[in-house]
Amino acid sequence: MIRSVVCGFGASLPKRVMTNSEMETKVDTSDEWIVQRTGIRQRYIAGEGETTASLGEAAARVALQRAGLTPADLDLIIVGTSTPDNTFPATAVNIQNRLGMHHGAAFDLQAVCSGFIYAMTTADVYIRGGLAKRVLVIGAETFSRILDWSDRTTCVLFGDGAGAVILEAQEGEGTNQDRGILTTHLRSDGAHREKLYVDGGPSTTGTVGQLRMEGREVFKHAVGMITDVIEAAFSATGTSAEDLDWLVPHQANRRIIEGSARKLGIPMEKVVVTVDLHGNTSAASIPLALDTAAADGRIKKGDLVLLEAMGGGFTWGSVLLRW
Ligand code: ACO
Repeated sequence: MIRSVVCGFGASLPKRVMTNSEMETKVDTSDEWIVQRTGIRQRYIAGEGETTASLGEAAARVALQRAGLTPADLDLIIVGTSTPDNTFPATAVNIQNRLGMHHGAAFDLQAVCSGFIYAMTTADVYIRGGLAKRVLVIGAETFSRILDWSDRTTCVLFGDGAGAVILEAQEGEGTNQDRGILTTHLRSDGAHREKLYVDGGPSTTGTVGQLRMEGREVFKHAVGMITDVIEAAFSATGTSAEDLDWLVPHQANRRIIEGSARKLGIPMEKVVVTVDLHGNTSAASIPLALDTAAADGRIKKGDLVLLEAMGGGFTWGSVLLRW
């Protein structure tokens, strides 16, 4: 049985860090409020010349280097993003060109904060279907550029960055002991559109628009939706919370992460939390967290790792994999 195995990972952050105390000088907020409600202490903000594609390219180069591969070894690039450099062409094609890759295919995938889960799932389908041997999967965002900096209820929450993994086709036995992706689960429900959206776009206003969110409404649904896709992963594989080595959740809010972990009986020692460092970087948050925990030696070869996210749409989903 073919499995999609992670053979490289990388990340890239903008040069500029914005701490909560700097945020206090820009909007009517406080470090105490932000930390207590979200767990965020700082975020990175893209500067001149830093874009979703440049951050994605940098993350991809680190992943290629760690995998001992070059762009010539890739068949496909998928970028999860809601903040592309341009409406078109796709940021993935931009990154493909920046990497000097002129074969294969590249496309973007838009599922807001679930973008990386959707991209990993799509890559896995390509690999298991025999259509690609190696896929570069990137989550990259510059949310700072779609924030309303006069709206304190949203602008303190988000940040910029990119993370990447390379998935490679490898033979497995078809058991849970195989390395690679074991199961994936995607969901969406457009009835929740108004709770988290961007109020512009090429086909409506002809502008990029700004992020709008009913924070409390999002919060209300988050834990239930996350629990739904985690339980789906457990039931598809006959695994349970005790089998997990690491939960790597989308990093939106520490309280959502703690609430989901508690409901599922996953101790916080097994949860990778980077929201304090990066803020909510939407599709980039999971690969940034993966990079952090794999680079510092927490996530090791053979570990059972569960990824989950929930975001605008709403969209939500999970990926269970053995590292
Ligand atoms: N600084 C200080 N005070 C603030 C700020 C701020 N930045 N923002 C809001 N407040 C005030 C409000 O005005 C309100 O004041 P009031 O009581 O005088 O009216 C008070 O704080 C409480 O506001 P709430 O909105 O009720 O605060 P809540 O406890 O719900 O926390 C938050 C807000 C953090 C946004 C929370 O609702 C949340 O985390 N929601 C989920 C949002 C999220 O994670 N979204 C991303 C997930 S999906 C994705 O990743 C795209």
